[in-house]
Amino acid sequence: MVPLLDYEKPSPPPDDRRWKVVDRTMRSHGYEPHALIQVLHTAQETFGYLDEEVMRYVAASMRVPLSQVYGVATFYHFFTLKPQGEHTCVVCTGTACYIKGADSLLAAVEEVTGAKAGETSADGKVSVVTARCIGSCGLAPVAVLDGEAVGKIDVDGIKERIREWTSIAGDNGGAPPAGIPTTPVEGPAPQNPIIEGVTAHDTRRAS
Ligand code: FES
Repeated sequence: MVPLLDYEKPSPPPDDRRWKVVDRTMRSHGYEPHALIQVLHTAQETFGYLDEEVMRYVAASMRVPLSQVYGVATFYHFFTLKPQGEHTCVVCTGTACYIKGADSLLAAVEEVTGAKAGETSADGKVSVVTARCIGSCGLAPVAVLDGEAVGKIDVDGIKERIREWTSIAGDNGGAPPAGIPTTPVEGPAPQNPIIEGVTAHDTRRAS
């Protein structure tokens, strides 16, 4: 018997091609419930992880209970649920994006956040994820920043976007630049260690 839905089927944005990739896989399997694992594989490769919206969408489309989708997604170690970072950066590493420098993008993201693919930065701000083709190869290289697909992004662009999230000051994980003291010579604790450091230099030079 076909289970009744006790929730609304998500309506994904029509211009987000990732959902079409998942749709195509479901269609190729005739929306048969026994293809659930293959479909979730496609969803994970496309989105980089499985979040609640994707799982609801797949469950509703294939007419399987949501509990079954959650069960499969949490049972098999190769599935990853939505990462816990405040922000999520997905770098597409599919063939078209790889040719256009996806590896450099990923290296830049890892450098700025201090987190490897599959990890979340130590401050909990950014989760770094990779995906295999999100269906926008014509715009390669592509990254998805908090759900927004950004095509033809370059290393500087992706670093800038992540710094906007994290307020990281440089390429060194947010630490003040080397050579600038972070401890005041005297007086109260600084509000901004970089400004305080410059002040300390100036004070010494003047004396
Ligand atoms: S390979 Fe990146 S969008 Fe297709």
